[in-house]
Amino acid sequence: MALTYFSGLDSSVGAIGDDAVGANARRWSVDRIVPVVGAGLAAVSYISVSEGACREAGVPGTVGPAWVLRGATSYKRYTESVEQAMLDAVQPALGRPEAGRAALLPITTSTAWWELPQDARRAIFEETSHHIAVGLEYLPAVARQLCHGRDLGEPFDFLTWFEFAPSDESRFDQLLARLRTSREWEYVEREIEIRLTREPEVERLPLANR
Ligand code: HEM
Repeated sequence: MALTYFSGLDSSVGAIGDDAVGANARRWSVDRIVPVVGAGLAAVSYISVSEGACREAGVPGTVGPAWVLRGATSYKRYTESVEQAMLDAVQPALGRPEAGRAALLPITTSTAWWELPQDARRAIFEETSHHIAVGLEYLPAVARQLCHGRDLGEPFDFLTWFEFAPSDESRFDQLLARLRTSREWEYVEREIEIRLTREPEVERLPLANR
């Protein structure tokens, strides 16, 4: 299980990543934060994404994050083997040089959703809402990562992350609009849309040299 931290920052300086030199943190500037359903999140200018232990709150002399969201990659709940093979054939990795835009969508679903049996949730997710079939239409333009927060006691059940080229942003908008009109989304009780542009790589110095 890998933990990913998404830290909302007011300043591009002062927050580092998860190891001694902060080399693993990826920095994105915030274009907009929109509360789609339910309560929003405090406005921030930057988001730092890092894996492993999060040190961003405790670096002396630096400005801490306004908020930190945490999620873990996990096993597949709904994907069947044929679908997985189709995904494996086309889905791109994160971090492509051309993918200068990203979206972070923290999502929480209702108690009614979690009380459904597994087979009923799968039926709503795919047979009725066609989440995977629809999503596949937007690959390989969109790279994605799904993190789970529910079992960590986090405020969001899911932290969904997407990367795409600026020229594919309108297609991503279309994908979002399609998913949000699906039956699956009737169970979403909190959703925030955060749109981001990748920051140019900066040289990361060891802490002692800052
Ligand atoms: C880019 C195309 C997309 C593809 C190919 C895709 C594919 C998938 C797959 C395969 C799963 C199931 C994982 C499992 O078996 O546990 C999943 C889950 C999920 N996806 Fe997507 N997805 C896409 C876009 C999106 C978008 C744009 C959103 C958010 C607006 C989203 C939100 C979610 C959520 C919240 C789950 C977890 C569902 C649950 O466990 O209840 N997906 N997605």
